[in-house]
Amino acid sequence: MKRLFLAIITLFQAAAFAQPAAGKKVLPLIPYPSEVKMTGDLFFLNSNTKIVLMQENLSKEISSLNEHLKKYYNFELQVISNIPNDGNYILILQKGFDTKNTSEEYELNVNNNQIQISASSEHGVFNGIQTLIQLFSIEKTADIIIPCVNIKDKPNYQWRGMHLDCSRHFFSKEEVKKYIDHLAMYKFNVFHWHLTDDQGWRIEIKKYPLLTEVGSKRKETLIGKPTFDKNGQPSKTDKYDGKPYGGFYTQEDIKEIVAYATSKHITVVPEIEMPGHSLAALAAYPQYSCTGGPFETFTRWGVSDDVYCAGKEETFHFLEDILSEVVTLFPSEYIHIGGDECVKERWKTCANCQKRIADEKLKDVNELQSYFITRMEKYINSLGKKIIGWDEILEGGLAPNAAVMSWRGTEGGIAAAKQKHFVVMTPGKPCYFDHYQSKNKAAEPLAIGGFNPIDSVYSYNPTPKILNADEAKFIMGAQGNVWTEYILTFSQVEYMSVPRMAALAETLWLEQNKKNFKEFSERLKIHSKLLDRKGVNYAKHFMAKK
Ligand code: ACM
Ligand code: ZN
Repeated sequence: MKRLFLAIITLFQAAAFAQPAAGKKVLPLIPYPSEVKMTGDLFFLNSNTKIVLMQENLSKEISSLNEHLKKYYNFELQVISNIPNDGNYILILQKGFDTKNTSEEYELNVNNNQIQISASSEHGVFNGIQTLIQLFSIEKTADIIIPCVNIKDKPNYQWRGMHLDCSRHFFSKEEVKKYIDHLAMYKFNVFHWHLTDDQGWRIEIKKYPLLTEVGSKRKETLIGKPTFDKNGQPSKTDKYDGKPYGGFYTQEDIKEIVAYATSKHITVVPEIEMPGHSLAALAAYPQYSCTGGPFETFTRWGVSDDVYCAGKEETFHFLEDILSEVVTLFPSEYIHIGGDECVKERWKTCANCQKRIADEKLKDVNELQSYFITRMEKYINSLGKKIIGWDEILEGGLAPNAAVMSWRGTEGGIAAAKQKHFVVMTPGKPCYFDHYQSKNKAAEPLAIGGFNPIDSVYSYNPTPKILNADEAKFIMGAQGNVWTEYILTFSQVEYMSVPRMAALAETLWLEQNKKNFKEFSERLKIHSKLLDRKGVNYAKHFMAKK
């Protein structure tokens, strides 16, 4: 009788959870699956529910479920290898399963006694579990209530990325893992880790200890935005905080983070910037610049005029040594070599760079940048990896196998796809999550500029209409970028990136014709209870949107 009473109570609660607006049932799933049917019944999950796993050991995937249950509901489920005689259960069905299979497809079928997750790969099972977790009721009830559904699901794009700049501001190993947790929740599969820049070098390289001893530190940091005098020089009135700033990841930290991401089926793509955005490295090893220095790690925002010298052979040996360590830490297919915003002024007057231009019969400094990237590409290819770089690597000619990240609009991506090079779209509008998300700037933390509200992120189509079907195949997907000049804490990283990353996740997962911003917003309102429970400092502008 008590159980029946409880069931009635929980049914009412479940109905409330599933019917937030206009009596219509809403499943709080983000990204929304490609095919969903609700059957109207409910599954009651509690500590007696079993996980049935008949074939391969899927410990990482099962852990993602049990860790969530332990953290937020204070129990874990027992894993058994046969269907139990009584009680309900979660059956993991491994159809045509192969641990080497990279398919992300899964099915999730829930009836009142059985939850069935079927997939042919570990990643598919993981995705099914992430969807299941988003279906859990949040309210404190005797059982976790799960609506009965039939879901068939797979992603639309293969590169669903989020970036984080850990150079301008440093985020701890635990914070980076938390960021990876957010990515996993939304089924992102790439974490682009921006590890080096003018303002800080954040990755331990054993052969060059000064990179972290010197390059990971800056003596102080500009407060607010940089200003310039009438000659274009830094204003004397700019204020600095006077506080030394620093931090880096040891190779052990990096291995731990990469393993953590891998357990959540997220590939970590490291970015080692060259030839520009390299002042922190040059503060440590000025001999690889054109002038020989000395330099200090940048304390201002913006880009330094001092960059790697493209004329000196030693510069290439230095970078090759660094990359030979980097590739051992990151199992990713791609290494990001930056390539953006390289100020080429020093190259114009450097005897070594000019000799290189003459010897290689290059037309100008743009072709010198192309020489630089092509040479680094050859080296990285020899290590069994591919390069990806910002769209400036198109200037002066694209390296033969390079993929392009299109950030200055979509033109670079379009040009690269037409040349049959793979592309990741990250146009500033709407993929830069360091831009404002509200027009009421006074109510927002200082941001770099721009205006990228959540609805513009949601409506983004990564495949430009101008591409024909064959060219469109080169668009691997898109990525949200979180540059941190004005983002000082991890809490602010969350505020800038969540829920815009949820909107991007759905844009990348769901076919364009299935997207619906109004429905997404309704789902997000319910889903935000999960974010509350997780303690995420998400931005709440969507709450006010109709
Ligand atoms: C960039 O935002 N400089 C890639
Ligand atoms: Zn030079």
